[in-house]
Amino acid sequence: MVDDVIKRKLAKAARFGPLHANPFVSEVPVIVIVNETPGHRPTRWGGRLLGRNFPLMDIGMSVMQFCLQAAQEGLGTCIIGLFSAREVRRAVDFPRSHRTRLLLALGKPEDGAPFEKKRKAKDQMSRYIGRKEV
Ligand SMILES: Cc1cc2nc3c(=O)[nH]c(=O)nc-3n(C[C@H](O)[C@H](O)[C@H](O)COP(=O)(O)O)c2cc1C
Repeated sequence: MVDDVIKRKLAKAARFGPLHANPFVSEVPVIVIVNETPGHRPTRWGGRLLGRNFPLMDIGMSVMQFCLQAAQEGLGTCIIGLFSAREVRRAVDFPRSHRTRLLLALGKPEDGAPFEKKRKAKDQMSRYIGRKEV
């Protein structure tokens, strides 16, 4: 979303909670709205039957790809889950069946390089069951 009026409303929607999260959103040039749509019938039925939300998995994958591609092109992203979906809906007219799940702040990183992150070791996040050699 690059329309200035709507962008301001989206930035306000992201100032969520008593701590007014996400102040930086008002400074980014582009805000992407990520909506969940109903999906095709077999997915809906399968999801209901199994108690799983497949569209949310799709959203996770596509948002990850979006962020990686943006990084590849020298851009920075921030996934934003803390926002008022009601305010987003008020700012942008979506069909009732669309539900905003995430916002993405997209822009040029200030100093060009992301800061060093402290990551968990691989064996703290996964484990092998059975044979280790593949
Ligand atoms: C689903 C989800 C929602 C998030 N919501 C927010 C948010 O509202 N505000 C924020 O500052 N960071 C939020 N984050 C965190 C950042 O988007 C980012 O993932 C975090 O800074 C870690 O980035 P990294 O890839 O450098 O580890 C969220 C992350 C995820 C995955």
